Amino acid sequence: MSSTSTSLGLLSIADLSLLEVNSILALASQLEAEPHGTRIRRLDGRRVALLFYESSTRTRTSFELAAKSLGAMTTLVSDKSSSIEKGESLHDTGLTLRALGAECIILRSNYSGAPDLLQRSTGLPVLNAGDGMHQHPSQALLDLRTLLEHWNLSSDISETTLAGKTIVITGDIRHSRVARSNSMLLPRLGARVLLCGPEALLPEDALTLAPHLEIERDFDTALQHADAVMMLRIQRERLSGLSIDLPTYIAAYQLNARRIAPYPNLLVLHPGPMVRGLEIDSTVADGPQSRIERQVTHGLAIRMALLHRALIHTGSPA
Ligand code: CP
Repeated sequence: MSSTSTSLGLLSIADLSLLEVNSILALASQLEAEPHGTRIRRLDGRRVALLFYESSTRTRTSFELAAKSLGAMTTLVSDKSSSIEKGESLHDTGLTLRALGAECIILRSNYSGAPDLLQRSTGLPVLNAGDGMHQHPSQALLDLRTLLEHWNLSSDISETTLAGKTIVITGDIRHSRVARSNSMLLPRLGARVLLCGPEALLPEDALTLAPHLEIERDFDTALQHADAVMMLRIQRERLSGLSIDLPTYIAAYQLNARRIAPYPNLLVLHPGPMVRGLEIDSTVADGPQSRIERQVTHGLAIRMALLHRALIHTGSPA
C-alpha cells in the first residue's frame, strides 16, 4: 500500500494536467476492480468530513460511499442541522472539523471559490463537490469516464483521445458549474464542444470559458453534429429574476423522442437532477441511448480515486 508524501485537494478541473487526469482515471479503475477486502484497507480509519451547504443526492452519496468503500470514517455536516444555521462561518466550521480530526473535507457550497477559502483556512485537502456557478470537477471526470467507456476509448488519455467527437452541452449554461468544468476539460482531449441554449441562459461570453468552444443556438442543428449530448436543467434557484417562458423553451430545447429519432448512435448524458418533461422527456431519459445511470455509477469510482489521491498521494497507483 502507498505511503503519504503530499496530499492533494481538487478545487477546479483547470488545476489538473492531462497526466493527472490520466492517473485519476487509472486509479479509479484499479480501485473499482480491487476485491473488497483489499480496498477497505486503503483508507482504514481515516477521517473524511462532508460539508454540504447545498442539497445534493448523487455527489454526497457517492463521496460518502466512496470513502466508506476505502475504509474511511465519514461525518456529514449540512447547513440544515448544524451550527452553520446559527451563522457559523465556513472558516470556523473548517477549523472545528480539523480539530475533530478530519483529514479531508468535501465541500458543496453556493459560493464560487468557497473550497479554495476552506483549503487555505484549514490546510486540509478540500475536494470541491460543486461551488456556486464555478466548478464541479469530479462531475467532469465522471462524465469523461462515461464517454471513454461508451466509445471504447483508452483511459490512457492524450490531446487527441476525443478528436473527431462533438459533444453538445444544452440548457442553462449560464448557471452551470457542470458546463464550466466540462467545457474546460473536453476540448483539451481534442473534442469539439458546442454550447447550445437561448441567450438568457447562454450569454456570448460563455465562449471565454475555454479556447475552441462554439455556440449553436438552434438545438436541431447542433444535434446534426453531435456524438454526445449533455442536457442541463434550468437552475431555478439561481435565476435571480431572470424569467424563462417554459413552453417556448421546451419547444426549442427539450430532448425528446422526436428530436432523438434521427440519431440512434447519439449518446445522452445528464448530470442530474433531471426535471423530466422540461429539458428531457422520460422516453429519452430511460431509453437505450441514455447513460445517465452509468454516469452516477462512474461517480463512485472517480470519487474513490479523488479521496485516495487526497489522502495517500504518491503520483501513481500503488
Ligand atoms: N450531479 C450532481 O451534482 O448531482 P447532485 O446535486 O444530486 O449531487
